[in-house]
Parts: sequence; structure tokens; C-alpha cells
Amino acid sequence: MNPISAAYQAVFGSPEAARPCERPPALRILTCGAVDDGKSTLLGRLLFEAGAVPEDQLVALAADSRRYGTSNGEIDYSLLTDGLEAERERNITIDVAYRYMSTARRDFIIADTPGHEQYTANMATGASQCEVGIILVDAIRGLQQQTFRHAAICSILGIRHVVLAVNKMDAVGFSQEHFRRIYETFAPVAAQLKLDVVAIPISARRGDNVVVASRSLAWYAGATLLEHLERVEIAQADSSIGLRLPIQGVSRTSEGVRLYMGTIATGTLSLRERVRVAVGGAEAVVERLVGVEGPVDQAGPGAAVAVTLTPETDLGRGDLLHTDADAPACSNHFSAQVIWFGERPLFAGRDYELRLGTYTSPVTVTAIRGKLDIVSGLRVAATEVTRDEIAICHLATPGLIAFDSYEHCRATGSFLLIDRVTGETVAAGMVRNALDRGSNLFAQKLTVDRRAREELLDQKGAVLWFTGLSGAGKSTIADALERKLHARRKLTILLDGDNIRLGLNRDLGFTEGDRVENLRRVAEVARLMVDAGLIVLCSFISPFAADRAMVRERLEGTPFLELFVDAPIEICEHRDPKGLYAKARRGEIRNFTGISSSYERPAAPDLVLDSSRYEADELADRVVRLLVERGIAT
Ligand code: ADX
Repeated sequence: MNPISAAYQAVFGSPEAARPCERPPALRILTCGAVDDGKSTLLGRLLFEAGAVPEDQLVALAADSRRYGTSNGEIDYSLLTDGLEAERERNITIDVAYRYMSTARRDFIIADTPGHEQYTANMATGASQCEVGIILVDAIRGLQQQTFRHAAICSILGIRHVVLAVNKMDAVGFSQEHFRRIYETFAPVAAQLKLDVVAIPISARRGDNVVVASRSLAWYAGATLLEHLERVEIAQADSSIGLRLPIQGVSRTSEGVRLYMGTIATGTLSLRERVRVAVGGAEAVVERLVGVEGPVDQAGPGAAVAVTLTPETDLGRGDLLHTDADAPACSNHFSAQVIWFGERPLFAGRDYELRLGTYTSPVTVTAIRGKLDIVSGLRVAATEVTRDEIAICHLATPGLIAFDSYEHCRATGSFLLIDRVTGETVAAGMVRNALDRGSNLFAQKLTVDRRAREELLDQKGAVLWFTGLSGAGKSTIADALERKLHARRKLTILLDGDNIRLGLNRDLGFTEGDRVENLRRVAEVARLMVDAGLIVLCSFISPFAADRAMVRERLEGTPFLELFVDAPIEICEHRDPKGLYAKARRGEIRNFTGISSSYERPAAPDLVLDSSRYEADELADRVVRLLVERGIAT
């Protein structure tokens, strides 16, 4: 075996057997609908009538149908797919099941996503590859919020062809009028979303218009569901899209030459071709090009390849190769549509992990520019985005990243956002465009830096972050501590919630979104001050763990102590130094921490300061001792 293939296999495993490819590529279909809409039955019926169910499974199905007692001994087709559903439930890592089906005309890959909670997240995962969406509607219940949501998700994920399958027509007396009303309500929304819709009246349970045309629906002259799926024409991928080869892994040939591996997302790559690295712009020529079966002269979309470059270039996972003909965008700020799945709402200012192709990076949602009203298809103003909503956001990364608009290239234009505390996937995103301000700004390297200033002051900059309920004693302890540090000739500054909110943050209130922004600005101010060499004392309720984590991260590389001023709420309320608890109890203050807004206790603070048992002065001494221990104070 040649050394490149060997290295290649070390990363990708053995080559797969080559597949004959006389037939056009399979049509990828996404099914959208809740269990009650009859999705399982429809899929089961489709697979069964198209002959995709093996004989032994049919025998078992007939037995199960008898056992679970369907009316008049009919076969219950939903058991066919519900069995798989149960299997999936046991293995929670699989959230999209793919079923394969072939007819004389076409092959199909059907992405089926569980219809229960989290369905939007799964749907978005399943949809990213699909060309046709089947949106199922229960004719009895008519169009639901969810129907519109499914349509919106199909649209933003780039699915242009949608089948509105109006199911359970038997239960509404096969009424043409009923069907027409559903379609006519849906059509304008679909048009707004630029979807090409075909509506088909069906009964999945009886099989009407699924594969065989229904006599009961004789007024409907169109194609059955399967006929439509066999015939629907999908525009071929835009051949003007140039090469996108995201690097997945790096290895070395036996001669020690760097070997880059990845799967071509779009375009073609040829031996001896000149390629460019998207971030940084380094240029090189493809010296060797190896496919799964060995060296090749050219490779196209979907091909897993390994390449060597001349001159040898230093690339890593997440880098993107392209050719000059069509360069991706390269910026640290971009606009995107995101489908939000997070339990907790999205607010501007929060940080997440971005996964874009093989690239991962921290990312901040810098602004929410609106959200999609799914019923009208129009954009409306928003400051927060809750689960299953679709928003238009601006996102910023610390460094430059390469990407495309989702419309131009799905592979390099779609991403996921991960909550860095819980590891949960909170959003799927589609890039709209790069924002100029990102690509036109460059961090200046300054000669007099923090180290130089620290030397001048003969001290180390640090951030001491006091968190706790209003009235817990944060500001009192911080004030006592500042006096002690001042006496030790340390240069300090105290940023206090009330004071900052009277000035810099005068425009902010106490909604979760405003608190995120409050702390983001404070973190930036603290960063500037620590750069000046100061010991920065920050006294903010900072009730949400995610925001405290965000502050800590923005101050990475700076000594940072989280000091939790812990006093029971009853005591804080009893003290009520500003009379605010009383007002909050009377309902005169909204979102008051501890009363009508939550406080998340720090999980691992550097120090817990119990102000219900000790005097502020003594607690300040404890902080001083910790600072001496950590080499911040002497
Ligand atoms: S934070 O939640 O955004 O960190 P911050 O510490 O800046 O809050 O401000 C808290 C101070 O604002 C409190 O000490 C209190 O005096 C005042 N305040 C006014 N309204 C509220 C409210 N709804 N919740 C909490 N504090 C409030």
C-alpha cells in the first residue's frame, strides 16, 4: 500500500467498496409532523406499498397488529416505524433515523425525526441535507403553529420543495372544501417563505393517495404522494460554487510530508491545482491527491481525500481550502438565522461554542436583529428568543473564520451553537452574510502593555468579582477590602452595580437580556482597567451562572477570583438597606432578584463570604489573606 493510502486509512478507516452509480442520486426527504398527525402511519404505509419492507417484518407486523388490536384486523402501519422509534429512544444519541426506499424511477432517503419534544432540534439536523419536505397536517385539527414552524425551518434550511400532506381526509368526509381551506391558508405563508408547495389530500391509514390514487378523493386530479416524489425535479447543485475542502485531520506520509485530510464539500480539486487557505491566504499547489481507492487526478463533491501541498503549509483541523475562482468570506463577525432550541432564552451578549464544519471557536451573539413571525413569515423586533423560535442574529468570534452564506454553500454556511456549561446543542444556524466591521478591524499591538504598567505600579492586576443577592453585603465588603488594599499601597478601582447603572449603563434595566449586557460591558471595562495594572473590585448581583462564566472568559489570562457573598434571602430582605425588597413585595419592582427573578448560586466560588455570621471587616481580611496566598497582594 502506498504511504499516503496508509496514512489516509489511519484517519478514515478502510475504503468502502465502490458503488455503482448509474441512477441519479437519491432524493432526500424530510418528514415533518407530530406523532398524532399520523407520521408513523404514513411512513409505514409508504415503505410498505413501495415494497421496502422485508417479508419477515411483514409477518411480525401482521401479528403485532392483531395483538395491539386494530379495528377490523387491519394492519397498523405505524407499528413499522414506531418499533424503530422505540429503538431510537433507547439509544438517545440517534436523533434522526434514515430509511431507504427504491422504486423503478428513483431512490429515496427519508429522514425521520421523532415527533416529540426536541423535535425542532432533530428536524434541523435531519433537514440540512434534504431536498424535499413532507409537512403533515391532520385534516381534523387543521393547520397548527407547528405546521408553520416546520415550513419556516424547511425554508431557512434551504428546502425549496414542500409537500403539504393533508392527512385523515377520511375523517372529514373526503371534503374538497375542507382541503381547499387548509391549502389556501397555507399557500400565502409558503409563498412568503419562498417554498414551492404541492398539497395532496391523503389518508395514511387507509392508503388513499399515498401510493395508489384514491377513489374517495376523485375530485383531486393531481399526483399521489409517491408519484409526486418520483417526479419532483430538483435543480442541480450550482456548478459555479468553487472548491470547499474543510480540513478534518493532519497526518504525515512515511517521508514525513504533511498530509491533509477532509471531505470535499463542494467543487472539484485537481492534482497540481493552486489552492488557497481561507484564513491567512497562504497559497500552495496540490502535490499529491489521494482518494479512498488510491491516487487520483481529480476529486469532486463528497469525496474523502488526502492531499500534500507545495510549499508545505501549516494547516490544522478547521482550516478551509478553496481555489481563487470562488473565495469564501473571511471575517470575525457575521449575520445569521438561528433556530433556537435552548431551554433558556437567547439574549444578546451571551457566549457559546460555534461549530462550523470542522471548525470550532467561542462565539458571542452580539445582537438580536429580530425574529421570524412564523404565522406571517415576516420579521418582527425582538430582544430575546425562546425555544423553537427563529431569529436573525449577529455573531462575533475572537479570530477570523472562513464561511459562506448558507444560500451559496450549505456545508460551509451552516453551524451549531453549543452551550459551553451544559454541552447541549442550543441552536442551528444558517449564515446570511459577513459583516464588514469584522473584516476591516485589526487588533493593534501596543508597545506599553499590561506587564509594563504592572512593573511601574509594582503590583499585579486582578479582578475580584463579588456576586450575591441585593443586600447580601457585597458593596460593604468590597469597600472594606478596598480600604485595606489602599493601606497596603495597592492601586484599586471599585465598579459597583448601582454606580455603573447610574452612568455607563443608564440605559439598561433588569430583564435577563439587560443584565447580560450590563455584565458584558462591565467585563470589558474591567478588562481595560486590569490592562492598566489595577486591582479591579466588581460588585454586581450577577445572578446567572452563564454570565459569570462569560465574564471570567472575557478576562482570560487575568487572575480572577469569584467571591460569593452568601446571606440567606430572609436576612437580606430584613436588612433591606434601600427599601427595595419591600417595594418588590408590593409588586412595584419587576424582575427583582430573589423575589421575581432567580439567583443561581455559584457552583465553585473561590471564597464564600457569609455576611450573616461575620462582620464585613473580618470577611475583607479573609479576602486579603487569599490575595496574599495567590500572590496578588503582599
Ligand atoms: S445585575 O443583576 O445586573 O448584576 P446589578 O448588580 O448591576 O445587577 O444591580 C443591582 C442593583 O440594582 C441592586 O443592588 C439594587 O439596588 C438595584 N435594583 C433595582 N432594580 C432591581 C431588580 N429588579 N433586581 C435587582 N436589583 C435591582
